[in-house]
Amino acid sequence: MAFHQEFFTLNNGNKIPAVAVIGTGTRWYKKEETDANFSHALVKQIEYALTLPGVVHVDHAEVYRTYPEFSEALKNTKKPRNEIFVTDKYSVQEKITNDPREGLDTGLKRTGLEYVDLYLLHSPFASKEKNGFTIEEAWAQLEELYHEGKAKNIGVSNFRVEDLEKILKVAKVKPQVNQIEFSAFLQNQTPGVVKFSQDHDIQLEAYAPLGPLSKRDESEQAKPFYDYIKKLTEKYSKTEAQILLRWVSKRGILPVTTSGQPKRIEDAQNLFGFDLTKDEVDEITKLGLAHPALRLYWNPLYDQYNPESQKP
Ligand SMILES: NC(=O)c1ccc[n+]([C@@H]2O[C@H](COP(=O)([O-])OP(=O)(O)OC[C@H]3O[C@@H](n4cnc5c(N)ncnc54)[C@H](OP(=O)(O)O)[C@@H]3O)[C@@H](O)[C@H]2O)c1
Repeated sequence: MAFHQEFFTLNNGNKIPAVAVIGTGTRWYKKEETDANFSHALVKQIEYALTLPGVVHVDHAEVYRTYPEFSEALKNTKKPRNEIFVTDKYSVQEKITNDPREGLDTGLKRTGLEYVDLYLLHSPFASKEKNGFTIEEAWAQLEELYHEGKAKNIGVSNFRVEDLEKILKVAKVKPQVNQIEFSAFLQNQTPGVVKFSQDHDIQLEAYAPLGPLSKRDESEQAKPFYDYIKKLTEKYSKTEAQILLRWVSKRGILPVTTSGQPKRIEDAQNLFGFDLTKDEVDEITKLGLAHPALRLYWNPLYDQYNPESQKP
């Protein structure tokens, strides 16, 4: 079947590939960056992703400490720059560079890129005492980087409604993206964040979209969900991961996934050669919501929201 790709349109009119197939965090994340822990497997996997057709979306962040691997893969690829969509993130929570400007400049220097396609504030937890700037001041820096063309799009990650409201109050450039944890088993990272972001035309991205597979629940209670996903894999001749990623995209949310297996990266890039019906999307939503919240990141800070995280 011919390769087909979809894009979401951001609130500034720019297009973004509707799935990010290789995140360099989670299974690739390192606590420290040393010569000894350079991951040849990650280089190979990014290089492989960059041989796939279409625009390949790579999700990166300074806190993953994978610049050496990412730079190496970029050096070796023949894919033109305009067919690679690069996301980078400024680590607000753990100080790696002094501020977003230094963070982005460092990332560009280390990767040899002239710009990133998307630059995000990794979390909302900035304070004058800890960081030397407020989250509003950090946002003002992202706006400057956007106007200078170093970041083609800018956004945030793990922002709650109250954090988005703070930014919207001062923003001259509205965030284009909010990257949050989202899966069938965690349909609102924090109360109301999905509806609020979508109502304000802020594109949501879903990291950990395959939580129901990587943390498979073998209980009786979860059986109807998995049985239904299995039924759809048979109907469409697709994998469970493809069904779940496609469901995320049909919810208007951009899935951000990763894998150590080339075939899984390829399956994710080939996400748009099939479609789910509205009834199927609704059924996955409903069966997913019947499951208790499965939160894989930002625990214990966001665990307080679990009861409200499984509401539509
Ligand atoms: N902004 C943030 O705070 C934040 C937080 C977390 C993640 N992220 C970003 O999002 C990216 C993806 O996050 P994620 O790794 O949680 O995404 P995910 O897509 O939910 O999980 C990927 C993992 O699922 C496993 N998997 C895939 N298919 C499977 C199957 N059929 N059965 C069992 N396991 C399966 C893969 O294992 P194999 O490797 O063995 O295939 C892989 O390690 C990260 O790399 C990072 O770039 C951002």
